[in-house]
Order: sequence, then C-alpha cells, then structure tokens
Amino acid sequence: MTNNIDVLNVDLGARSYPIHIGAGLLADVRSLLEPHIGNGRIAIITDETVAGFHLQTLLAGLDVDNVETIVLPEGESTKSFAVLQDVLDTLLKANFSRDDTLIAFGGGVIGDLTGFVAAILKRGCRFVQIPTTLLAQVDSSVGGKTAINTPAGKNLVGSFYQPKCVLIDTDILETLNARQMRAGYAEVLKYALINDREFFDWLEENAVALLNGDAATLRRAILTSCAAKADIVKRDERERGERALLNLGHSFAHALEAKAGYDNTLLHGEAVSAGMLMAFEYAQTLGLCSGQDVQRLRAHLRKQNMPTLSDLPAAITHDPKQLFAFMGQDKKNTKTDMKLILTRGIGKAFIEPKADQASVLNYLIKVCNS
Ligand code: GLY
Repeated sequence: MTNNIDVLNVDLGARSYPIHIGAGLLADVRSLLEPHIGNGRIAIITDETVAGFHLQTLLAGLDVDNVETIVLPEGESTKSFAVLQDVLDTLLKANFSRDDTLIAFGGGVIGDLTGFVAAILKRGCRFVQIPTTLLAQVDSSVGGKTAINTPAGKNLVGSFYQPKCVLIDTDILETLNARQMRAGYAEVLKYALINDREFFDWLEENAVALLNGDAATLRRAILTSCAAKADIVKRDERERGERALLNLGHSFAHALEAKAGYDNTLLHGEAVSAGMLMAFEYAQTLGLCSGQDVQRLRAHLRKQNMPTLSDLPAAITHDPKQLFAFMGQDKKNTKTDMKLILTRGIGKAFIEPKADQASVLNYLIKVCNS
C-alpha cells in the first residue's frame, strides 16, 4: 500500500466524495476504490494515448476479471453525440447496470464524456475519476461538471453529476508532454489569480520546477488547487453564484477556442492562459486592476512560455467582432447580459453580472489589431 496519501473531501452532503492524491496510487487502486464501488462490474473508459502508457498498470492494480475497456480516440472531437451513443450502446449491450462502475481514465475529454455517460446510463450509474493530465487533476475531474460538445458550442449538453471518488496519481504526469503540462498549469495559476495572492507568490518561485515535473512541487500545487476547487464547489455545486469565479478568463478563452475550431491548434489550457491575461487587461482598461498586476501576470506567463493573445495565429485573432459574438454565446450569459469574471488584481477576482458590452468589443478591437 502506498503510504503518504493526501485526502481531501468534497463536502456535498449525500454526494460527498474523497480526492486521494499521491504518487503511485494506481498500484493500490483496488483497495482505494473498494469502499466506493461495491461488487459490481467495472468499465474503464480511456483514450488511445493513456491506454498505451498506463492501462496495463491500472488493470494490474484493479486485479479483477471481466473489466470492460473502451478505448476512444484522443481529442476534443471525442466529446460528441456520436461517441456518446457508441459508448452507451456498448455498455447497454454488455448489460451494464446501476450497480456497476465506470472509471474515467484520461484527461478532461474522457472525464467529461464518461461523467455524462454515467449520468444518463439507466438514469445514473456510479463513476470514479482517475485523471491523467495536470489539467484534469487540478480542475475538470473535481466538481461534477460533465458534458459533450455540439456544433453550437463547447459543453452545451451535459449535467452536474458527481463521481464517487477521485484518484490522483501524480506519477502519471511523468508521461505528459511539456505542452500539456503548460496547459494544465494555466488552471493551477487560475486558483492563485482568483483569490490566493500568496499562492501566486509561491508559483512565481516554483513554476519552473513544477513545469519540469518536480514531484514535491507538483504535489503541493495539485493539493492547493484541489482544495481551492473543493471549497468553492461545496458552497455552490451548481454554479448559481461563486462557482462562476472558476471561469476566470474562460469567456475570452472559449471564444478563442471556438474560433480555432476545437482542433489541436489551441488546447483549452492555452486558451485559458491567453484568456486570463485578457481578463486582467480588460479590467485594467476599466480602471479596476493596476498596471503592475497586469505586468506581473504577463511576465509570469512569458517566463513559463505560456501563450498570450499576441502568440496566437492570426487565423484565431484577426476578427474581434467574431470573437465578441462567440463571447455572447457563453453559458454564463443571460438573454440580455454578458457575465464576466473580472479582477481588482492578483487574488481579487469577482463576478460582473452585466459587463459593458461596448467596452468589451472595444477592448477586443484594440488587442486584436495591435
Ligand atoms: N472548470 C470550472 C468548474 O468546474 O466550475
């Protein structure tokens, strides 16, 4: 049994669940899952890359007969109605029941899709998250957001459906490439920018080690991030209020992703990196955020080789009006109002329910043409 496991709890009453964080957890997966999954059958849903690196280790750790394994193509296009239907058909054909358990073994795409399958298969079966990217370990595996994409936009069909537990094996990150690490780091940084200036100070000191895969630094960043997320989710599971803070930079980011077309040219975390700086810059134009804080964030992103708007291809940034139109489709908006997460500085994010849309467009025109 691996010693030295950190356990956080996501307190949601009857839907509460633990997050286990440690190195080499996959070896102990059976005992860690046992309290949560009963004696039912197990289906692992994963992607080709993760399966290539880690499926054998997971199967060895589970050490049970008769595990169904569904290996899907890597990438955002897997979060589609077509793949959802295929996975449901496979599980129904195998007569999966509510007492059985789905294991989401992958990054955000696999986690979001598997969670949605679990939410609707026979009106809901158990699922657990074993996230394999930094982004999924610090954000998407925690909090129960599940979804697929449609031609109208990202994550527009889905539900809130909590896993029974989250197992974060930090050793898995050893096979993650540098681009994916940086993309995940954007979400780590997000927690600092929302409400934890001290964490930002710490990240300024430690981001290089973290991105180079230093185990202790990564572990501390993952713990801090998951604790921050669990804290917000327990107070606002369904994003009626403060959970929207977790969308810092995401309205800008989702517009960039929509324009990029959800292919591999722009990863979600890369869009978030650029989008968070845009939220800071826009807040500066409103006189809300100091130039020093904007500069400090920009310098930090540059030092870690994280993308900002000016690093993105012109094909994504050339049309500010279209980006603005994409921002208008954000799930947070009402019919008439654009909700934005703005900031009074590092660690001081807040929700602006009625952003001034003319000034948002002016900001986009200015930065897209500069
Ligand atoms: N990733 C944002 C949230 O879970 O609310």
